[in-house]
Amino acid sequence: MAGMISMISAIRAFGQNAATTVAEKPSVPELFYNPSFYLLTFVFIIMLVVIIALTRTIRLLAYGLLPEEKKQIIATEKEKSAYEELHAPSFWTRFDRNFLTKAVPVEKEADVMLDHDYDGIKELDNSLPPWWIWGFYLTIIWAVIYIVHFHIFDTGPLQVEEYNNEIAMAEQKIKERQAKMADFISPENVTALNTPEGLGSGKDIYTKNCVACHGPGGEGTVGPNLTDEFWIHGGGIKNIFTTVTNGVPAKGMISWKSQLSPKQIQQVSSYILTLQGTKPANGKAPEGEKWLEAGSTPVGQDSTTVVTDSVKTVTAEAAVPSK
Ligand code: HEC
Repeated sequence: MAGMISMISAIRAFGQNAATTVAEKPSVPELFYNPSFYLLTFVFIIMLVVIIALTRTIRLLAYGLLPEEKKQIIATEKEKSAYEELHAPSFWTRFDRNFLTKAVPVEKEADVMLDHDYDGIKELDNSLPPWWIWGFYLTIIWAVIYIVHFHIFDTGPLQVEEYNNEIAMAEQKIKERQAKMADFISPENVTALNTPEGLGSGKDIYTKNCVACHGPGGEGTVGPNLTDEFWIHGGGIKNIFTTVTNGVPAKGMISWKSQLSPKQIQQVSSYILTLQGTKPANGKAPEGEKWLEAGSTPVGQDSTTVVTDSVKTVTAEAAVPSK
């Protein structure tokens, strides 16, 4: 038992080391790089061959020195064993006898017959099948390993622990998922960025993709002026985000959602908002309706002023699905 325990702990220690040592050790042991290893192996093999040859010679010589009668006896013994070899039980019979049934051959059944006789049905006292007995021993060995591993050394997690571990892992996953969800930007939860990095990459995106139609300063060329307070599809981060995402294909403003990630759209939309009131040269005339951010005091209450909380009702054009 003590030996077994120490064996198990040795195996455990090995298992723990294996992960670290395997990576460090070169795959071929140092020994194989040493030429004297091959030399010694060669000499060893030669000596082995010589020893075998010499032993044979000695035996032959010894046989030659034997008296005639002894030689006769040896010859008959050889014949006998050759005969037995020829009539030896087949591999299958031996396999069956040693491993599968170990049943007594039919001729010898009388030896193992019990005196029970149930209406002519008799019982043989055969051995149990060896494979079954080995299975039984294995379960005993397994039980010992199990007890030592789980209940003596406490090296394995019990069910409760396993359960708690899995719960902890699941909670971890939930947290990761929630973190990802926080990254997911939609028109409902989008906010205007004000970090230099966010606005910086927003400006880059604008310069690369939008200048052609909205002008370098947002003054508007093909597309409308983005620097004034007037918006065709509503101002504010939520509306701009939606317009850029879905585009207005009918009017020549493409949908950007296949080319820009939600994050990038948020960045460029936030950048556009910083252009408000910059009054660039050649600014295009205002188009759309005046937009007031929620919470700000409305300036004039004429028909073009929209006092709104956040999201403008989607117009027919904006609702056109993008391709
Ligand atoms: C091919 C020309 C073109 C390009 C490129 C373009 N736009 Fe536009 N954009 C337009 C047009 C035209 C409109 C006006 C749509 C309308 O009249 O409904 C518009 C409208 C807009 C609006 C709405 C303005 C309002 O008054 O509601 C925003 C915001 C906008 N674009 C942002 C962008 C951004 C950001 C980019 C770059 C990622 C971009 N646009 C690239 C042509 C373009």
